[in-house]
Amino acid sequence: MKVVNLKRGPILVLSASALLICFILFSFSRSTQETTAIRDVRIRSIKDERGSDDRVEFPGQTEKKEERRTEKVREEKKEELKKVEKISQRKEEGGRGEGDDIAKKREFVKEMMLHAWYGYRNYTWGYNEIRPSSKSPNNQAIFGGSKMAATIIDAADTLWMMGLKDEYKQARDFIYANFSISNAEGTLSVFETNIRFVGGLLALRALTGEEFYTEKAREVAEALLPAFNTPSGISYSNIDMRTKVASNYGWANGGSSILSEFGSIHLEFTYLSHLTGKNIWVNKVRKIRETLDKSDKIEGGLYSNYMNPKTGRAAGMTHVSLGALGDSFYEYLIKSWIQTSFKDDQAKKMYWDASDAIQRKMIYTSKSGLRFAAELKGGRPDKKMGHLACFCVGMFALEAKYEKNETRKEQVMQLAEDLGHTCHESYVRSESRIGPEMFYFNDQDDATSKRSEHGYILRPEVIEGFFYLWRITGKEKYRDWVWDAISSINKHCRVEGGFTGLQNVYNPNQGRDDVQQSFFLAETLKYAYLTFTPTSEISLDEWVFNTEAHPFPILKGEVKGTD
Ligand SMILES: *[C@@H]1O[C@H](CO)[C@@H](O)[C@H](O)[C@H]1NC(C)=O
Ligand SMILES: *[C@@H]1O[C@H](CO)[C@@H](O)[C@H](O)[C@H]1NC(C)=O
Ligand SMILES: *[C@@H]1O[C@H](CO)[C@@H](O)[C@H](O)[C@H]1NC(C)=O
Repeated sequence: MKVVNLKRGPILVLSASALLICFILFSFSRSTQETTAIRDVRIRSIKDERGSDDRVEFPGQTEKKEERRTEKVREEKKEELKKVEKISQRKEEGGRGEGDDIAKKREFVKEMMLHAWYGYRNYTWGYNEIRPSSKSPNNQAIFGGSKMAATIIDAADTLWMMGLKDEYKQARDFIYANFSISNAEGTLSVFETNIRFVGGLLALRALTGEEFYTEKAREVAEALLPAFNTPSGISYSNIDMRTKVASNYGWANGGSSILSEFGSIHLEFTYLSHLTGKNIWVNKVRKIRETLDKSDKIEGGLYSNYMNPKTGRAAGMTHVSLGALGDSFYEYLIKSWIQTSFKDDQAKKMYWDASDAIQRKMIYTSKSGLRFAAELKGGRPDKKMGHLACFCVGMFALEAKYEKNETRKEQVMQLAEDLGHTCHESYVRSESRIGPEMFYFNDQDDATSKRSEHGYILRPEVIEGFFYLWRITGKEKYRDWVWDAISSINKHCRVEGGFTGLQNVYNPNQGRDDVQQSFFLAETLKYAYLTFTPTSEISLDEWVFNTEAHPFPILKGEVKGTD
């Protein structure tokens, strides 16, 4: 999700001057370029200010320091729990028979949600996001200056699940009366608009049964349709809302489409066809799927991050990634198979072939024993793993849940847990106990990298991974890990007007990015909350989450509508 969609990459609407600056920054190094999705522009510029000598200890600290830190952290956690007790005393709702401790943690996350929500509501209602320190609208991020209420749409299903009825009603009434895609101006990212707006509205329909949400989702999807008019069916990245002209990013390998973007529409459009009875939506994504299935696969099951929408072929040097640019395409393959009650055989085969190839070619173990998912560039491993790539912990855990071959099931579960461990290490080895944007591994040493990006922009993927591990293995330690992460976020990212990202997780006092990303309310807080509810709440046997954590029901089979 992000500036270049790194699963969220592309920040859509940059002003011309911002684009120029980006262009200059991008041209410094290709790797910087590729790890920079639009969402990451902020982080990138922070890094440039810091200069390249800035050294970070990733895994390399001494044990003593670690012990002292652990002791300190333990004390801090005690303090946090005391605070939680106070909060939960104020709430009527008690535990639900699963132990007070868990109920308190659930209330703690709910209180964080209320704080995030009221920051936005008090100061920037109707805008996309709040800058919580300055208490002003965030107009730089994705969706730019358009007043599209991204936070309201993204947060509403989380409010609903948390039983925050008054706040849900505020969101619902706004969407009903005031949300319209026709308010969007400038250029929209097809991917971001789909996962947040179409996805958010459809999940609200699923949870509440209110039909108007389907109609609003349909209108948003309709606004995106011109992006699908290509010979291969592969959609463009952007669409100009005024002219209806679709386009790709110039930096994306000579104007290619991006795998994680056009590959992460399948769940939403399938469900929209199911609800409307019209095949137009599912046909769009089936065509993309056909093109990909027929394309030359890399290592027998992988796909290039960059594809030409005219030819349907890989563009430029092949780059394969479970992080930025690739990530949620693989996620949507296995989830499409689940969404159709295991009827979508094409998705199943493509996913399993991809997973085989990933396990053969992309999984490495560092000298100190941390397993990680590398990227492949021109067939060679690039030994780094971004925060975004930690989503694959959840993906492999889901694969393990459904794998019938016992040997393989065990292997892939082990992989999910090992990668989860690595993502956890990236958190607990930092001063803030929050992980950085990117970490590197080399043969001598794990992830000592001055190149690494040290910021944290409230991303969900690591907590999302622990959520899946908890739901699927039932091991208590994964709930502890979520608690550790979310209480650290509360400690370091909380300001008066909500929650902000950090410029440097290794030195949390260094600075803040002053943006409360809407995905913090849609994803990070939702996955944390659902870790502390009974597992029957939004059960993985009944729901599948889109890549913005908006849940859709598992359908009875493939969609059969009319044309
Ligand atoms: C929002 O406003 C209410 C009412 O004035 C206030 O109680 C609350 O603390 C505010 N919350 C935030 C996060 O600004
Ligand atoms: C919808 O927008 C109008 C005009 O800005 C505003 O007065 C009204 O309160 C909004 N409705 C809701 C439910 O937020
Ligand atoms: C199960 O998977 C293993 C490892 O991939 C394979 O060697 C074995 O043949 C499979 N067993 C069956 C019954 O398919």
